[in-house]
Amino acid sequence: MRFSLLSLAVLPLASAQLNKLAVKAGLKYFGTASDVVSVKALDATYASILSDRKEFGQLTAANGQKWFAVEPEQNVFNYTYGEELTRYARRNKQLLRCHNLVWHSQLAPWVETTNTTAWTKESLTKAMVNHVTHEARHWRGQCYAWDVVNEALNDDGTFRDSIFLRVIGEEYIAIAFKAAHAADPHAKLYYNDYNLESPSPKVTAVTEKIIKPLLKARVPIHGIGMQAHLVWNRAPTLDNMIAAIDSYAVHGLEVAITELDVRIDLPESDVKMQIQKEVFANATGACVQRKACVGLTVWDFWDPVSWVPGVFEGQGAATLYYANFTKHPAYDGIMGALKNGTKDKWHHHHY
Ligand SMILES: *[C@@H]1O[C@H](CO)[C@@H](O)[C@H](O)[C@H]1NC(C)=O
Ligand SMILES: *[C@@H]1O[C@H](CO)[C@@H](O)[C@H](O)[C@H]1NC(C)=O
Ligand SMILES: *[C@@H]1O[C@H](CO)[C@@H](O)[C@H](O)[C@H]1NC(C)=O
Ligand SMILES: *[C@@H]1O[C@H](CO)[C@@H](O)[C@H](O)[C@H]1NC(C)=O
Ligand SMILES: *[C@@H]1O[C@H](CO)[C@@H](O)[C@H](O)[C@H]1NC(C)=O
Repeated sequence: MRFSLLSLAVLPLASAQLNKLAVKAGLKYFGTASDVVSVKALDATYASILSDRKEFGQLTAANGQKWFAVEPEQNVFNYTYGEELTRYARRNKQLLRCHNLVWHSQLAPWVETTNTTAWTKESLTKAMVNHVTHEARHWRGQCYAWDVVNEALNDDGTFRDSIFLRVIGEEYIAIAFKAAHAADPHAKLYYNDYNLESPSPKVTAVTEKIIKPLLKARVPIHGIGMQAHLVWNRAPTLDNMIAAIDSYAVHGLEVAITELDVRIDLPESDVKMQIQKEVFANATGACVQRKACVGLTVWDFWDPVSWVPGVFEGQGAATLYYANFTKHPAYDGIMGALKNGTKDKWHHHHY
């Protein structure tokens, strides 16, 4: 039966439903990243949305599982920051995407300041494997997926310079995946990067330099994370995103949109927010229309805690809620794309 517009308007709005609709559309989850530690104390409304499984069925620690937090000194492990979010997700029965094990950024200083001359290939490999093993073992069985290696490629498709590439060489990637698999054998292991949403030299390199070599060497890799930090007026179209998803899925890998936000040039305007809405809807639609795409994660959902204004001067309003907790038009855009779902009906999960 259909509700009339009038009855819809007076219903106490079933307002929290992104994950519920995503699961109906055949996805495993709709989720969000959060730096819950700092925010929980900050705002009760934020916390009530974050903990609502009808809204977010999956959480990602925005910072707590990164190397600087987990192994601040060599072989000294500290899971306090990461546990804040993972415990929260456990309590609320939300899936976890665990993020991340090996990345050139937000690294502990000891890894980088011990310079290239001081590290040998052997000693850095050992330190990296030790990190991956301890961390993945600590959260063993709790993570739907691990972002094992993050951002190893440049936009031109070459390998990004990092202490790991310089000292160990390209094989650091395979070594990290193998160590993660040994430590947490049931987790899906992902390569995660930005600018993977639209065909490009970088997207080609994901296949040629990461997926194919790892599969050929029988290294376990199960998924590609498209971060999708998008910009309102130069975002990939729905067709672009489907093409990118297909380029990973053809190798038998699953795909997730892992860090979705859509920044605009401030100040906001109705026109910009309408375009933002379409970009969010396109990303959601691409995932829904492809069986390989298991879910979407927004990189936080409240403008005041978004990373965008701190990093991109003059840009912001990149999430789903304004500071006053009014929803951006994009929220409806996502709902529309989820309701428009075409994923196979048999591929159905209960949230
Ligand atoms: C571990 O991390 C927590 C959270 O960042 C911090 O408060 C605490 O001081 C750290 N513990 C040690 C022993 O460094
Ligand atoms: C790098 O490490 C080597 C070996 O420990 C040391 O001799 C050199 O001074 C270090 N260089 C810098 C810039 O720290
Ligand atoms: C959304 O995707 C469609 C189909 O690919 C495209 O025509 C449209 O321009 C996209 N919208 C935006 C704002 O990128
Ligand atoms: C909505 O569904 C139609 C028909 O399957 C599809 O062509 C269109 O791309 C979908 N739109 C979005 C935003 O997913
Ligand atoms: C909430 O903030 C937005 C953006 O500043 C504004 O457009 C909207 O009118 C505000 N809503 C309410 C109910 O104050």
